[in-house]
Amino acid sequence: MKFSEKIEALKKELSSHQPSDLDAVEAFRIKYLGSKGLFKDLFQEFKSVSSEEKRAFGKVLNGLKNEAEEKVNSWKEQLSEQKTEKVSIDLTRPSMLRELGAEHPISIIKREIIDIFHGIGFSVAEGPEIEDDWHNFTALNFPPEHPARDMQDTFFVRNPNGEEDHVLRTHTSSVQVRVMTNEKPPIRIIAPGRVFRNEAVSARSHCIFHQIEGLYIDEGVTFADMKQTLEYFAKEFFGKSKIRLRPSYFPFTEPSAEVDVYWGLENEVDHRITKGTGWLEVMGCGMVDPAVLESCGIDPEKYSGFAFGMGLERSAMQRFQIPDIRMIFENDIRFLKQFQSTF
Ligand code: PHE
Repeated sequence: MKFSEKIEALKKELSSHQPSDLDAVEAFRIKYLGSKGLFKDLFQEFKSVSSEEKRAFGKVLNGLKNEAEEKVNSWKEQLSEQKTEKVSIDLTRPSMLRELGAEHPISIIKREIIDIFHGIGFSVAEGPEIEDDWHNFTALNFPPEHPARDMQDTFFVRNPNGEEDHVLRTHTSSVQVRVMTNEKPPIRIIAPGRVFRNEAVSARSHCIFHQIEGLYIDEGVTFADMKQTLEYFAKEFFGKSKIRLRPSYFPFTEPSAEVDVYWGLENEVDHRITKGTGWLEVMGCGMVDPAVLESCGIDPEKYSGFAFGMGLERSAMQRFQIPDIRMIFENDIRFLKQFQSTF
């Protein structure tokens, strides 16, 4: 083979190399650049070629050698970088512990109830905790000076501008009033939220607590629809399929009822929970009073509806065996940590 052909062949060979690991780089280096390598041979041969050829190929040969050396260096760099990267991921190392927050017991209960009502077409409505008298009382058929206002010991918020005083809402029925005055039937909402009553704080009662109230208004809604809905709720939430409605009184519903769930009397705890009767009172309910529909701008001749309301603390205390309601509001981290999110 002529010298010129040898150089041409070498050029081709060099450009087609792409070693996959450091061993292959070393093999390449030995083959071409080593003390018995191809370049060594070529330079040896170079000595004996004609001076014409020397001029033509000297530069090319040197250039190819430099190129080969550069390639070896950069391959080495690349491949050893990859190597250290691989080594730095140790899959057997224990992971870093990430502290997870726990869900507040009230939030757990609230989320469960919202989920159940979502499933049957209710959406969530919210409103302000500081309310005016009209939304909390008057629109709900509590006329001024009406004795029913005494059922709910109210916190008043004095207005320094001499305008009408406000109240801390005593129930989330005020949210129902807001929805009824702003939207047209059909209305299907639940209103979860914090409510306030001026009661002595003890292990069983607090001046702050949480409610979820529900409202369904459409043409032809009946008491039977209400009972069916509440039965469904009792089954989903408490896992109990028997309820009873006891006559009761609320200014904004007529007729009104208390809902009891048949809890059973299977063990000592059941006896304690139901005071030995087997029945547990869980909420108030009733058909929305036509006077309430009217004050909210809904035609009571055309529409009817039902409403219900329940406290969340009692359910949370039962479910999680919380002995004192005050624990729910103290935000003691040792208490809060015990509730695992069920997400
Ligand atoms: N608002 C009532 C309460 O706070 C509960 C209730 C709501 C009763 C809707 C009947 C209908 O006690």
